[in-house]
Amino acid sequence: MANTKEINRRRTFGIVSHPDAGKTTLTEKLLLFGGAIQEAGAVKSNKIKKSATSDWMEIERQRGISVATSVMGFEYNNHKINILDTPGHQDFAEDTFRTLTAVDSVIIVIDAAKGVEPQTKKLMQVCRMRKTAVIVFVNKMDRPSKDTFDLLDEIENELEIGVRPLSWPINNGPEFKGVYNIYTDNLVLFNANEKLSNGNSVEFTDINDPELEEYIGDDASQLREDLELIEGVYSEFNIDSYRKADIAPVFFGSALNNFGVKELLDCFVDIAPPPLPVETEERKVMAEEDKFSGFVFKIHANMDPNHRDRIAFVKVCSGKFKRNTNYLHVRNGKTMKFSSPTAFMASKKSIIDEAYPGDIVGLHDTGNFKIGDSLTEGEKLHFKGLPSFSPELFKYIENANPMKSKQLAKGIEQLMDEGVAQLFTGRASTRKIIGTVGALQFEVIQYRLLHEYGASCRYEAIKLYKTVWITSDNEGKLKEFIDRKYQQMAFDKEGRDVFLADSPYALQIAQDKFPEIQFHYTSEF
Ligand code: G4P
Repeated sequence: MANTKEINRRRTFGIVSHPDAGKTTLTEKLLLFGGAIQEAGAVKSNKIKKSATSDWMEIERQRGISVATSVMGFEYNNHKINILDTPGHQDFAEDTFRTLTAVDSVIIVIDAAKGVEPQTKKLMQVCRMRKTAVIVFVNKMDRPSKDTFDLLDEIENELEIGVRPLSWPINNGPEFKGVYNIYTDNLVLFNANEKLSNGNSVEFTDINDPELEEYIGDDASQLREDLELIEGVYSEFNIDSYRKADIAPVFFGSALNNFGVKELLDCFVDIAPPPLPVETEERKVMAEEDKFSGFVFKIHANMDPNHRDRIAFVKVCSGKFKRNTNYLHVRNGKTMKFSSPTAFMASKKSIIDEAYPGDIVGLHDTGNFKIGDSLTEGEKLHFKGLPSFSPELFKYIENANPMKSKQLAKGIEQLMDEGVAQLFTGRASTRKIIGTVGALQFEVIQYRLLHEYGASCRYEAIKLYKTVWITSDNEGKLKEFIDRKYQQMAFDKEGRDVFLADSPYALQIAQDKFPEIQFHYTSEF
């Protein structure tokens, strides 16, 4: 057992939300607590501005800036906290899904007036699939909000997870008085005139103490009633149920006013899981193992054609990562060492000598890595849990300049390794199909192929609903299916069989006719 002390003090997590619920604001306030930034506004460049939603160049530029804030590390109460940033723009949802493969837990931010919104539901599906522990932060309590009990019901129903309030708001909107911290049993008063204060905290051993009225007036009786109801309705908070992702603790506050954030953070470092074991095809890897292992979950390319370098983000899963040490790049069998691995402390990037499980290391890459690659001290491990999801939009990609077909092939291959989009090749036609989550990626790909690889492409429409990976224990049936659907069969980039379903109806028919075939919506099964 190695590095136990360092491992146990690490908390690596992601903050997710529907755009505008307050993810950026909350991130910033957490960094302020950690002393990682000195002033509010420092993380703003991280956010893709609303005005830029149709201007993908601007989005890419801002994403470029956000390399430094992709991972924000800081120290808090003797814990090393790593926040992994996730793009808010839904066209980059695939990036977010992948980042969620590298976190040990998640904080979900919900707008108290809007409740659960579509993007939150999608992200929660990914958390559920991976059984990731989540804490919910209900934000913007300083604005008129939904009824608190209704909101909790909505979270339970829409996010399909049990909830357990660990703080409780006293009124909301202009009447918002503060929160009662159920986890530590104290009252934290909100003072709207004292923005950015930490709130005034009052210890309360007995909620029935008449002194409560002195602080929150008529709201005291309602609070007592609510707390009684909570104890009756929700079972006692249990850290195991939270870590097993059965129950999500819920906190209330206002990130903008830095209110309720400290309560969230203090509880988070207490209960959130340290670096978890990670599944590989071969075996389960434990953080405490002596030997280093890690996997690439994100690749960030430099858009500048003069510096076509990339940063591969590696999550350390076990052992200790060391600078200038030989490691095995498992996929290509090469031994590599890294002279300038970087770590990210808030917006500062610095070269590090070592890193522990839970940490993220940035490695300078000239095209050796693709998403999902493993680095080890020699063992051939293949990390699981980095599935591709069926894209939602599809186009044929064609070469627009026959003189540059090599450049085009190389460009497409590298962009796919980065995870910008997915590539499928038709069995019969051998035509190449690009699949993406958002419409913007098509423009990004076209632009980058031209500017970084000197290759031009054009797109042609294709009627396609989903790409579905197929498998079967019955070889004969699989062959029969492929023969029968030959025109609609393709290979993904790894050569796996994919059925191109052009409508939900066609998919249903295929499923009904071939019960021996398994249809998979993600590439990992
Ligand atoms: P996001 O990253 O989830 O997209 O959300 P972000 O933090 O950027 O917050 C979205 C908007 O909501 C911002 O206002 C932000 O100031 C506001 N906000 C965040 N937390 C609270 C809160 O607790 N109370 C209130 N009332 N507002 C909150 P904006 O006008 O869009 O941006 P900005 O001009 O303030 O930067």
